[in-house]
Amino acid sequence: MDNPLLYTVTNNDIDTLIDPKTLQTRITELAKDITRDYQNQDLLMVCILRGGVVFLTDLMRNIPIPHLIDFMAVSSYIDGRTKSEGRVRITMDLLTDIEDMNVLLVEDIVDTGYTLRQVLELLNSRSPRSLRVCTLLDKHERREVEVNIDYVGFQIPDKFVVGYGLDDQDGHWRNLPYIGVARK
Ligand code: IMP
Ligand code: MG
Repeated sequence: MDNPLLYTVTNNDIDTLIDPKTLQTRITELAKDITRDYQNQDLLMVCILRGGVVFLTDLMRNIPIPHLIDFMAVSSYIDGRTKSEGRVRITMDLLTDIEDMNVLLVEDIVDTGYTLRQVLELLNSRSPRSLRVCTLLDKHERREVEVNIDYVGFQIPDKFVVGYGLDDQDGHWRNLPYIGVARK
């Protein structure tokens, strides 16, 4: 086969952890909670690129109240050093001025918590009216810094997952319609 990705997928090298139907059901529940909590308020959903983009687009289609979206990108690695040093770099900033806005950060996964902590610090320094966090996945046992998360889709075990926006650090597998674990 010519396409190595297709080859790997069709050879079932990725085990399904969360199937598409389970994902969509949970996302509609999260969307209901968010809709209720932001009734009659302005809302800006901030998606962290690139991993959060699939989640954001499904989530927002289930939130019927008016809201805005914006994007930012961060890099967990600086000069080849790993994120265990606890520093992330903003590689693309928001276009929106978030002062006095209700901001909901939409993340794919919270792992050690370093990324989220830094992004929250930055956004808080811009004086939003409120700042909450929604993550699809939470690898709680990996947490190194405590961060408050308001909406969690799924608690998952300490396994490296791909699909539904998440990549293998080479940019692949984001298009899988489910969350999977690569078989070693
Ligand atoms: P943290 O700073 O350790 O919380 O890492 C958060 C970021 O690491 C996420 O936004 C992902 O980009 C990446 N990450 C952590 N765990 C996984 C995983 O299991 N699969 C894919 N990316 C992950
Ligand atoms: Mg990411």
